Amino acid sequence: MTAPEGAPELRVDVVTVFPEYLAPLRLSLIGRAVARGVVDLHVHDLRRHGVGVHRAVDDAPFGGGPGMLMAPGPWGDALDEVVAAGRAALGPAATPHLVFPSPAGRLFTQRRARELAAVGWLVIGCGRYEGIDERVLDEYGERFPVLPLSIGDYVLAGGEAAALVVVEATARLLPGVLGNAESLAEESHERGLLEHPAYTRPAVWRGRAVPEVLTGGDHARIARWRREQALRRTAERRPDLLADPEQRPGPAAREDTGGPRR
Ligand code: ADE
Repeated sequence: MTAPEGAPELRVDVVTVFPEYLAPLRLSLIGRAVARGVVDLHVHDLRRHGVGVHRAVDDAPFGGGPGMLMAPGPWGDALDEVVAAGRAALGPAATPHLVFPSPAGRLFTQRRARELAAVGWLVIGCGRYEGIDERVLDEYGERFPVLPLSIGDYVLAGGEAAALVVVEATARLLPGVLGNAESLAEESHERGLLEHPAYTRPAVWRGRAVPEVLTGGDHARIARWRREQALRRTAERRPDLLADPEQRPGPAAREDTGGPRR
């Protein structure tokens, strides 16, 4: 792995009422990127901007309905502070991209992760309860790119788990985060297909042999087999990917023919 030099590749500010929820970002691959300064991670407690002795950040929705909403006041104060601190570090013209995890957002995909990996500065606002007062998104949307993002068609208890997903999927794409052992090119979703099945030693396990093609040393044949397997698996498990022009599979990668993985 190459050591980072100079400025971080990505500054990430996360605003949440559960700062401890983001602790996994200090572990493993992303944790190393944070420790090495490739990712400059700042986690902020929204509760510091809460109201009254209970530091309340929520209120009942206008128009009625179940549950509570996050009020705009604490969010405005928190985001103003985060933007000011980020600009003090990055320069007065720095522009944050504001991500609001929400089941009502656009779908977060590998393509979106690649886009976010290039923006330089992400601010992620984690909602709880029934979400955040819409005026917060309107207000900041007049100044910055604002992206409500969903990580899938299910409802989480809050945005924190989604923030972990967005940061991990994005940060691993930054230069120098993945080592030589991990390849971006061949993995699922990088070329619009699911990844082919993979095998390691032993060549026979519980009577199950590794597909013969993989042990024969014919790299062009291996590349063809992997491509076929990837297409078959995608058609079976995720036919929607084959139908989606945005995800349409690209050509087989040249590195497929470069040599055996094992
Ligand atoms: N918050 C609650 N559910 C969510 C989801 N599916 N994606 C992103 N944020 C969420």
